[in-house]
Order: sequence, then C-alpha cells, then structure tokens
Amino acid sequence: MRVTLTDIRKHFGSVKANDGISLTLEPARIYGLLGENGAGKSTLMKILSGYHQSDSGRIELDGEHHHFTSPAQALAAGVGMIYQDPLDVPTMRVIDNYLLGRDSKLRLDYEQASQELHIIASELGFEFDLRSYIDTLSLGERQQLELLRLLSLGAEVFILDEPTTGISAEQKEALFASIRSLVKDSSKTVILVSHKLAEIQELCDEVLVLRRGKLVGKADIPCTTEELVRVMFEEVPPRSERVSHVSETKLLEIGDLVIETERLTIRDINLTIQAGEIFGLAGLEGSGQRLLLQSCAGLLHPRQGEILLEGRDIARWFYHRVKDAGVAYLPAGRLEEGLVAGLSITEHLALADPRKSFMVDWRFFTEKAQERIDQYQIVGRPETYVDALSGGNQQRALFALLRSPLKLLLLEHPTRGLDVRSAHWIWQLLFEQVAQGASILFMSADLDELIERSDRIAAFSGGVMSRVVLAEKTTAEELGYMIGGEE
Ligand SMILES: Nc1ncnc2c1ncn2[C@@H]1O[C@H](COP(=O)(O)OP(=O)(O)OP(=O)(O)O)[C@@H](O)[C@H]1O
Ligand SMILES: [Mg+2]
Repeated sequence: MRVTLTDIRKHFGSVKANDGISLTLEPARIYGLLGENGAGKSTLMKILSGYHQSDSGRIELDGEHHHFTSPAQALAAGVGMIYQDPLDVPTMRVIDNYLLGRDSKLRLDYEQASQELHIIASELGFEFDLRSYIDTLSLGERQQLELLRLLSLGAEVFILDEPTTGISAEQKEALFASIRSLVKDSSKTVILVSHKLAEIQELCDEVLVLRRGKLVGKADIPCTTEELVRVMFEEVPPRSERVSHVSETKLLEIGDLVIETERLTIRDINLTIQAGEIFGLAGLEGSGQRLLLQSCAGLLHPRQGEILLEGRDIARWFYHRVKDAGVAYLPAGRLEEGLVAGLSITEHLALADPRKSFMVDWRFFTEKAQERIDQYQIVGRPETYVDALSGGNQQRALFALLRSPLKLLLLEHPTRGLDVRSAHWIWQLLFEQVAQGASILFMSADLDELIERSDRIAAFSGGVMSRVVLAEKTTAEELGYMIGGEE
C-alpha cells in the first residue's frame, strides 16, 4: 500500500507539532522515522493511524483519499500502530486485550483466539499466560501483545513507535525477522520510530528525519551513525569520558534476599553497592531485576533477608519512609506509575513536595515548575498536562521531580525514549549525583548503555542473579550469555 501524506499540519495550543509535512511511503519498504524529542514523530504517526485528526492536509492510501476519525477506521483501511505507551486495558486479561478491536460477534471464541495467539506468539518467541492481567505484565510484554494483535488484525501499514524499548536482543531479532518477512513476502509498509540508530541501520531501507514539526532530511541506508546524527541535530554530540566515583564506604548491603510474587520468586540475592557506584542490571523483562529495584524502594516487601541502607535495615519499611531516607525510584511506566495523567507539571511539583501544609502556594509551585522546566529543558509550560508532553519530555519531567540530595537512585530504563543527545545529557545529570556520593542501581535493556555507564553489572535470568562483572572488562557477548542464564 502506498501512503502519501500531503502538507500535514497539527498544532496543540501554540505548539506546531506538525508544520506542513509531506512524504510518500512505498510498499515493501521499511522506513525509519528519526528526530529529537518533541520533533513531532508520534503526532504524525498518530494522525496517519487515526488517533489524532490533522488541522489540514491529506492522507492517501494507494491514491485514495481518507479522513480517519478513529484508529478503528484507520485499521479497517489497513493502517495499524503500536503506540509508544501501550493503549491497552490494564484491568483486563491478556486474551481479552488480544480480542479487542475485532468485529463484535455476540460470542467471543476464546478457544480459537487462544490457539491463534499461541501460534503467532511462538513464531516470534514471545510467551504469554493468557489468563494474566495486563497490569502484571512488563512494558515490553505489553508492546509485544500489541504487536501480535495488529498482526492478527491484518494491517497493511505497520507503525511501530519505539517498539524495542522493553524487549531483549533475541526477541528483537525475532521481531525484526518477522518484520522483514512481512515486508518481503506480503509487501507491507513498515515505519519504525526509534532513537536507536543501530536498529534503524539494521532494519530500515530509508530514514526520514523530523525537526520541530518539519521534514528536514532523508537518507538511504546504509549510512554511517555520524551522518544520521548530523541530519538529526546538525552536529555530533560530544562523547565524554566517565570518571568513576566509587568510594570505600558501603551504601547498600543486600543479604540473602528472597522475594516472592505470583509470577516469579527471586532468591538468595547478595549484593553490596558502594557509595558513588553505578550498578547495572541486565536481563529480559520479567526476570527479577525490577522486583529487586522495587523491594529496595519499599514498594515490595521481601519474604526473607535484609536490605541495609547505611547499616539500617529498610527491607520492611514503607515507600514513603524509604523515600524520606534519600532513596528515589524511577519507574519505566511513565504514565502509570511515575506521573499522573491529567495533572500539570506545577501540580506534580506540589504533589511531590515533602512539606505538608493545608494550603497549596500555587504561585510558588508555578515558579518552581518554570525553574525545573528551564533546568531540565522540558518542552512545555507549568500548566501543561504531563500526558500532553512528548515521550522524551515526560522522561525529563520524571527527573525534574526527583528530590535532592539523594543517597540511592533506583532507575528502570532511565533513558527509554530519549534521543541520543538527551540520553547523554541525562547521564551527565546522573553523574553529577554520583559525584556527590549518591549510588545508582539501574536496569536497562540496552547493553551498550549498561557497559558504558556502569561500574559493575549483573544479569538476572528467571529470578536468579548471575555473577557480578566489571563493566570495563565485559562485552555485550558476555552479558548476552549471562542474560541467557549461562555462566
Ligand atoms: N496531546 C497533546 N497535547 C498538547 N501538546 C502535545 C500533545 N501531543 C504532543 N504535543 C506536543 O507536540 C510536540 C510534538 O510531540 P510528539 O509527541 O509528536 O514528539 P515526538 O517526536 O514523538 O517526541 P519523542 O521522541 O519525545 O517521543 C511536543 O512539543 C509535544 O509537547
Ligand atoms: Mg514520540
């Protein structure tokens, strides 16, 4: 299916998210859509997939003019999208989510749907318990389920908005292989929105680059990373050497920790983290690393064992007490756990304020919000609702809410959805914290990020923690083995 977009415009208030974008996408090709945070990528794709309506402009599919007023209409015309933050229904089960959006027969055929889901899931190497509820799945698993749903609904044009943030290297290979075969065997058109330049180079035939709502460049792949970065930013961000700040003082001592949840048990975790240390956790989604972070944050109480923070056992403290002790937790689910949709940046700062008072001093918090917006370079205003921020700007807002000084930062995918320049910048901020003596325990799906940013790394596999390796001595290959459970 050939997709032609002509002079697409969309504004939100004073923001011109799409400012006259025209492009043509040919069938049987894979396109990469690149651009810094807030460039307008998601907005353009949401217009093509019927989620947003453009202010003006034309959408043509195989020469036929369409005006979509809902994602269901776009899907019926053959355009399906996986959103950056999955639009599933957390309170429903996997199988019910899978069945969403199908033609509504009076009786749903669960038997057939289950078989179907099993077959396409296993083709991609994904595994689901069909009876479990969406809110027990990781973000990566939710994206996987959305992908399977679109495949089953038979879309001709697939839009994937950062689909690989929560999946492993192996699953990514499987996903890419299936995308390639979709394109080759059945001439689908695929658009991949991603900040991971290596992925774009690996999968795409051509890239399109947006900047501030406009199409500013195109390039055929193969093309070097430097070239891609230059088209995106007009300059190549500097690479800085990292200085290690690991000190002699022990900050966190985890002893014989056992955590039990319905889905997974992790046992016998023993780990000591020094003040000023950055410790990276690798592993497939749902292998236990998130449970470890959550138990250190006081969100999950272990069954056994101790978590000593500067010698005090915090393992059974509640979240707020742990937080008051100088521990911060940054979740991956930005709009479910980290931020509150429907509240502004000012309101978030008021909510996060540790001082309790009966009246809220809105002037104070509005000024503070403006300060943080400037400091964290958030594209938005104090009164902007967090759900109206672009993905990368939501991530910045999460960082802007952190208190200081901090002793321990627990981070889940800290640079998920950030463009190369912003990711670099966030790590500079984190390094400043570390230089002041804070420690960081973080999980990431990006092996390069783990190796480049950590002092030491361990991997989780099926609830078991591997040996600990020095980041400067390890390789992506070695981590790959550790993630697979091989020593
Ligand atoms: N629903 C909305 N209401 C108000 N403003 C919005 C809304 N959606 C997007 N915007 C604004 O439009 C601009 C473009 O956002 P968009 O989400 O398309 O960026 P993006 O290129 O996908 O960025 P990212 O890489 O961070 O995901 C941003 O400035 C954003 O704040
Ligand atoms: Mg986006």
